Amino acid sequence: MHNVTIEHLSFSYSGAGDGKLVLEDVNLKVEAGEFVCLLGQSGCGKSTLLRLLAGLEVPTSGQIKIGDTVVKGASLDRSMVFQDYGLFPWMTAGENILLALSEKFPSEKKKKLAEIAIQAICNVGLDADVFYKFPKELSGGMKQRCAIARSFSVDPSILLMDEPFGALDAVTRARLQDMVLELWAKEEQKKTVFFVTHDVDEALLLGNRICVLGQTPSHIIFERKLQRKERRNREELFDSPEYMHLRHELIKQFHQDVAKRYS
Ligand SMILES: Nc1ncnc2c1ncn2[C@@H]1O[C@H](COP(=O)(O)OP(=O)(O)OP(=O)(O)O)[C@@H](O)[C@H]1O
Ligand SMILES: [Mg+2]
Repeated sequence: MHNVTIEHLSFSYSGAGDGKLVLEDVNLKVEAGEFVCLLGQSGCGKSTLLRLLAGLEVPTSGQIKIGDTVVKGASLDRSMVFQDYGLFPWMTAGENILLALSEKFPSEKKKKLAEIAIQAICNVGLDADVFYKFPKELSGGMKQRCAIARSFSVDPSILLMDEPFGALDAVTRARLQDMVLELWAKEEQKKTVFFVTHDVDEALLLGNRICVLGQTPSHIIFERKLQRKERRNREELFDSPEYMHLRHELIKQFHQDVAKRYS
């Protein structure tokens, strides 16, 4: 488990120097085991930042370090839950999970990996027979859970979650929020999570560090580390004057940022 350091990170999709920057001089230090929630307007570069953390894109300048090692490419120690689930449609949910597992544990027997995959499916509250279902046979919430099951099953030390609950109804969303917190908290050595959301309340419930990205070229315009007990509780949280104050502060930041864009 290592700290994550983002140093003077700038990025343009059109390559070195000449293109329009999406991210400009992003700096962030995150301790191992933190749950970081990233907020920001649509198009500001949240998914891009996760892709850079995953090693799927290369910084135009600056760097990302895991411990003392500079991120140079993808690693099985960093797993991403994509905004659109990222399940291969021609494979069953189980085969999707097995594919990731067999890359992570190449010498493990298939039978053992299938057991791990089924356990991962059950851990996210799905029936074991979802293993044999194709993504098109699953609801949005079920697909999302499969994507989360796949990420947790490979036991990464860094989990990158891109608006994982964006398309879900409020009840399913609340259940999955609790589930992710439970999975995160029950590990002896907690995973470091980067979690993108548009929902301020979700960020306050889940995160112990909240970062807001401003409009492009984007950098972090607001950052707050929260001092909190290990377990979150919705009722307590939203009755707390401290949290309500922070909620107002975050919403104000957004409004100011959006207003800048349209002024
Ligand atoms: N593959 C790509 N090639 C070129 N430009 C891209 C690519 N992916 C994203 N962009 C651009 O980079 C910017 C940031 O996109 P990104 O997907 O990171 O935003 P986001 O903050 O995740 O938005 P949303 O909240 O809508 O998901 C946008 O202007 C987008 O058009
Ligand atoms: Mg996005």
